[in-house]
Amino acid sequence: MTRPLRGAVPHDPADDSDPADDSDPAGDRDPAAPATGVTLAGAMRRALAASVAVHGTTSPNPPVGAVVLDAAGAVVGVGATAPPGGPHAEVTALREAGPRARGGTAVVTLEPCAHHGRTPPCTEALAAAGVATVVFAVRDPHPTAGGGAAVLRAGGVAVREGVLGDEVARGPLRAWLHAVRTGRPHVTWKLAATLDGRSAAADGTSRWITGADARAEVHALRAGVDAIVVGTGTVLADDPSLTARRSDGSLHERSPLRVVVGHRDVPSGFALDAPDVLHLRTRDPDVVLAALHDRGVVDVLLEGGPRLAGAFVAARRVDRVLAYLAPALLGAGPAALHEAGVGTIADIARLQVDDVRRVGVDVLVDARPERTVNGAGPARAGSATPGSAVPGGDGSPLREGTLHEGTLRKGAV
Ligand SMILES: NC(=O)c1ccc[n+]([C@@H]2O[C@H](COP(=O)([O-])OP(=O)(O)OC[C@H]3O[C@@H](n4cnc5c(N)ncnc54)[C@H](OP(=O)(O)O)[C@@H]3O)[C@@H](O)[C@H]2O)c1
Repeated sequence: MTRPLRGAVPHDPADDSDPADDSDPAGDRDPAAPATGVTLAGAMRRALAASVAVHGTTSPNPPVGAVVLDAAGAVVGVGATAPPGGPHAEVTALREAGPRARGGTAVVTLEPCAHHGRTPPCTEALAAAGVATVVFAVRDPHPTAGGGAAVLRAGGVAVREGVLGDEVARGPLRAWLHAVRTGRPHVTWKLAATLDGRSAAADGTSRWITGADARAEVHALRAGVDAIVVGTGTVLADDPSLTARRSDGSLHERSPLRVVVGHRDVPSGFALDAPDVLHLRTRDPDVVLAALHDRGVVDVLLEGGPRLAGAFVAARRVDRVLAYLAPALLGAGPAALHEAGVGTIADIARLQVDDVRRVGVDVLVDARPERTVNGAGPARAGSATPGSAVPGGDGSPLREGTLHEGTLRKGAV
């Protein structure tokens, strides 16, 4: 049985957590709490929701959410990371809380930062506000910005970590945690295929394999990443615009960097023949990722055709697969993946499935590679757990916009 936080905080109907929910992996609540009020898990879910709302707007900084509870346990402030140069989530939540933060609890999705970057350390802001307890989900793996928990404890603030840690690490922080730990952007390969694995018809046409709902979801996905990458083959075949559009055709507020990979020119007059499109004349996925890393890109959506996708899979540079499978058959035409470096069944690129769901008429399989990290054993769904930094895989103070200073770790996985 969980103990609620102190104070009579009404359960928020928009908050899907159950006040009696025992799912909090940290396992308990403030021992001084009376029997009513929001749970730590409930407060963390509100912080998580705040971070979801800013996902895609903060790179190279992490999308963090924060909730401040007053000494009686009532929610008095909510914040999320502002675009680079703006305040961190904790600071915004503290500002909203004002003097009511004194003696209260800050619930944050990521360990508060302890270093001076473009903004002062959040640990200082929390201490100055008189917060008595800080609860966070995921430890900051960054060697410079991390360590906030120790600083807070040294200043007499009670600290709890790991509340909803796996859930938060798999959410909006996933790409950022990956980038900090590996020194590379996180790559999601999105594909649309028929049930017989074809990504285009025999004559090369591929619009539209999947239905309207799947296409709308892909546009929303685009709006949440930093860069969309295709090969010249897709450009020449489809002349895509790669913009993030709503179902009414209007553009999402935020459009990610559009990237073309390959030696051939983009013909003039094509949608991607535009000055803001980055054309990388290479065939090396690591060169692509290094160039994007230099530009502060954390989260990449790979929408290339089978050849570029094959190159990324062969190089083990795909971190997530989103396969939209249409209940349709083509029988001929290119496969969704071409030459992925698998010549024998022993080398099959196995995936583990995180989620399967229907999207309109189609089915989405959300999966990640089963692989070893630096030979340290198979990566797990919860591999982005606090403190599990890949040895030697880091080096860039991502939180303050200096992603480009990082050292790419090549050939490790
Ligand atoms: N169903 C889907 O999800 C989906 C998504 C995208 C595209 N498509 C379809 O896929 C077809 C195009 O296939 P595609 O394979 O040509 O497209 P692609 O993978 O986007 O582009 C292939 C080109 O990328 C360049 N490239 C960069 N790095 C490479 C590497 N390491 N190895 C090989 N090539 C590399 C090469 O161009 P250079 O010769 O210029 O170097 C190559 O010809 C179209 O019919 C399109 O409609 C389907």
